[in-house]
Amino acid sequence: MRYFYIFFLTILSISLVTGCQNTKEKQLSSVVNSDEKWWKEAIVYQIYPRSFKDSDGDGIGDLKGIISKLDYLQSLSITAVWINPFYSSPNDDNGYDISDYRAIMKEYGSMEDFDTLLKGLHDRKIKLVMDLVVNHSSDEHEWFKQSRSSRTNKYRNYYHWWDAERGKPNYRYSLFDVNHDAWKYDSLTNSYYLHYFSRKQPDLNWENPTLRKEVYDIMKFWADKGIDGFRLDAFGFAAKDTSFPVFPKGYEKNFMAYYSMVPAIHDYLKEMNKEVFNKYNVMSVAEGAGNSFEDAHNLVDESRNELNMAYAFEGVDIAKAEGYSIPHFKKVFSKWDSAFNNKGWISIFLANHDQARMVSRFGNDSEANRDLSAKMLNTFILSMRGTPYLYNGDELAMTNAGFSKITDYRDMATLNEYQNQLNKKGNIPAFLKRLQFECRDNGRTPFQWDNSVNAGFSTGAPWIQVNKNYTSINVADQEKDANSVLNYVKKMIQIRKSNQVLVYGKYNLIDKDNPTVYAYTREWKGKKMLVLLNFSNQTSKVNTGLNLAKAKPLIQNYPNLYGETLQPYEAVIYQIL
Ligand code: GLC
Repeated sequence: MRYFYIFFLTILSISLVTGCQNTKEKQLSSVVNSDEKWWKEAIVYQIYPRSFKDSDGDGIGDLKGIISKLDYLQSLSITAVWINPFYSSPNDDNGYDISDYRAIMKEYGSMEDFDTLLKGLHDRKIKLVMDLVVNHSSDEHEWFKQSRSSRTNKYRNYYHWWDAERGKPNYRYSLFDVNHDAWKYDSLTNSYYLHYFSRKQPDLNWENPTLRKEVYDIMKFWADKGIDGFRLDAFGFAAKDTSFPVFPKGYEKNFMAYYSMVPAIHDYLKEMNKEVFNKYNVMSVAEGAGNSFEDAHNLVDESRNELNMAYAFEGVDIAKAEGYSIPHFKKVFSKWDSAFNNKGWISIFLANHDQARMVSRFGNDSEANRDLSAKMLNTFILSMRGTPYLYNGDELAMTNAGFSKITDYRDMATLNEYQNQLNKKGNIPAFLKRLQFECRDNGRTPFQWDNSVNAGFSTGAPWIQVNKNYTSINVADQEKDANSVLNYVKKMIQIRKSNQVLVYGKYNLIDKDNPTVYAYTREWKGKKMLVLLNFSNQTSKVNTGLNLAKAKPLIQNYPNLYGETLQPYEAVIYQIL
């Protein structure tokens, strides 16, 4: 059986795979999608605030902590940060359960800290993208407290309720519930409420125009403060068929086709665009990209006025504990590039806060290969067409945590799934083994600043254990080492920033069937770059069909180059002269 993790991460995209195969791929055309926009040129750095830097010794990262590291952010030369939710929250799901959308989580600080942070970012020419979590709220939000208090309360229709005298509602799957049942019975009004995520994350009713207006007002509140964009969390689930029909047998195989992208989603996004995005000129990125290329295009096609860019999961889902196929990886990223060659825009990423660490999943985190493969993967992210997203710590090659006991984990979804496994007498050792590779807590351990206690993250006991390897993987050491992953990433960021060809240039896969090397060119306005990436731990040959003797290397992760022979995990970018 597939464990929850794979399920959760893939449901966001699995039907997309099927959908894509069914959709005729767009033909490459000579017209390249190069309408210039700041958010296309942006290099986004994702900060997981709970684990980034703690300023007050409570073991939990906070806004003052981020403020104290603004110069570090500037030293990376990234141009935007996306910070995971920092609104008031009881933290059932680390901030993805919001109890007040206009206040700062008490562990994270105050609104004054937020204002200082935003100013500090803007002073350094770094934009701020906020997480917008409005498929659901916390059950501790005032709206929900009111809503559940009586059937006639004016907030009742802010959520989805099913009166018990109508019988049990048709089954809906919950991603985070111990029993995966999305309907929770509430005796107060003898009704069930819907929660696609945990019981403490009731789904908001987007059919209600009053609720929608509340959300736009919240967005305006933050836009008026001067933020630069929104990342729409789990928004594909917001529209629902509220008659809650029985799903046909076997629907689980195509879960997303039933649970997400109900057509009304486009009306909501158009309305949101008109009310907020358009008025404030803020950028917008979806979590996910719908269930097919058609969906993805509909979300981000400029003429439709919905969102700016899609964030497709098909690529990040490729890595499995048993490994992954490099040709498959190339195929997926090439397919997405080709589909967006003319219109629309995508994000490029290999990790985020819902994934285990990039180098442990897509690279090789052994002592010998960790730095090389991390450099190679960062070269990939920063040389593809689409806005690159770097997840904090990946610029250091931070690795999976290696937790072995369930008590080491903090993620509510993981702990609920563990309980589910216990209840059904699942294979616990196998479950724990899987967690070591794929649990999202792997990507949430404290950021490794230096080799002092708790990796310089906090003077108190961290909310989740620090990875033991912090004494050898940390910012302080890497800043001093000219050969470090950190210095390599900084250089690669400069290369992307000073070569628009890497942003807008036409992507062309070469040596397509090469089993281990990912090679492509980028071309724009007479400039041509060649990117060679050996994704394997073997010396590999590539056939570029180009005269490399005449090419100028711009960045490389080995001291010497041997033309079309690439060392394990070698990465090099040439400018073709
Ligand atoms: C998104 C977030 C994830 C969260 C979930 C529920 O997928 O990325 O972290 O748990 O939504 O809000």
